[in-house]
Amino acid sequence: MTKTVETLEWRDRDACLLLIDQTLLPHQFEIIECATYQQVGEAIRQMRVRGAPAIGVTAAYGMALAALASHADDTLGFLAELNVAAGFLRQTRPTAVNLSWAIERMLKLARKLSEQFIDLNKLKKALLIEAKVMHAQDVAANRAMGAFGAELIPDGANVLTHCNAGALATAGYGTAVGVIRAAHEAGKRLHVWVDETRPYLQGARLTAWELQQLGIPLTLITDSMAGHFMQRGQVDCVIVGADRIAANGDTANKIGTYSLAVLAKENNLPFYVAAPTSTVDLSLQNGQAIPIEERSPDEVTMLAGQQIAPRGVKAAHPAFDMTPARYIQAIITENGLARPPFVEDLKKLVAIGHQLPAISY
Ligand code: MRU
Repeated sequence: MTKTVETLEWRDRDACLLLIDQTLLPHQFEIIECATYQQVGEAIRQMRVRGAPAIGVTAAYGMALAALASHADDTLGFLAELNVAAGFLRQTRPTAVNLSWAIERMLKLARKLSEQFIDLNKLKKALLIEAKVMHAQDVAANRAMGAFGAELIPDGANVLTHCNAGALATAGYGTAVGVIRAAHEAGKRLHVWVDETRPYLQGARLTAWELQQLGIPLTLITDSMAGHFMQRGQVDCVIVGADRIAANGDTANKIGTYSLAVLAKENNLPFYVAAPTSTVDLSLQNGQAIPIEERSPDEVTMLAGQQIAPRGVKAAHPAFDMTPARYIQAIITENGLARPPFVEDLKKLVAIGHQLPAISY
């Protein structure tokens, strides 16, 4: 039976955010409870929750927790407290724009509503509702992306994916894995090559786990094997998620994505990116300005807590890289596909926004 992964869950009873601790998967399944925005921020920083859309929705709940905990007695004080929480949450991870997108959306609503009414309890409730709406919208966006993207995957395809862009990386269903999932649910026979994704092993630990539970055939490979299987005609397309997409389609995603895109081009294979419009950053003209998170070199010199390189050796660990738009055949969003040269399509798709009915508070 297929087990549904609930990456994040809000518990109303005691106002608490529950997260699967992804650092322990696949061998231990533990839920962590976050009752403060500081705990939420730490969970994001420590990658207990990760993946661009998942950290966006998690941060929105973090803002809701900050609102609920506020003792301010006027809107000015309340907004000042929210700004402090926003600053704390924003600096936890720099690359995925979904994080600041979600925080800004919460702040914008707080500012707007504080001009309309001054009942702070009402305002706090409204912010929690907004986080829940973002949660639901992310799942809906992934399903829509799945439907658009599944059309691009031929029956019988061998699909290669990198990192984890599945249910665990989102509020549910997944982006790149969501597309694979939708094609599978539509009855297409697929096989997935899963890159292990050194150094953090999101492919080996998380994507392999998710696909296994979904009953989708997969083969786990090390990142350096991808070119070999492409050259032998054993890969039909590549599909990955994204952490930030610039206005021209340049895409930041997990380190190793750029090499895959170049390899795909060399082997005449389509390279697709699946991401919600909340991952598109129209304020950046191109990918050069996307901030790339630098993580601890220990994650390179060590594996599963075991030192593998000589002690004291210098190592580098950029957690993401940038794939120029020229390598990308299509960007699959919840509002449809963007095709090269991307600029106009992305602008239109972002402008459509989310399609759920507006909430009145
Ligand atoms: O460092 P991570 O695990 O947060 O990186 C995740 C990725 O790079 C994903 O591909 C991306 O966030 C898209 S997830 C739907």
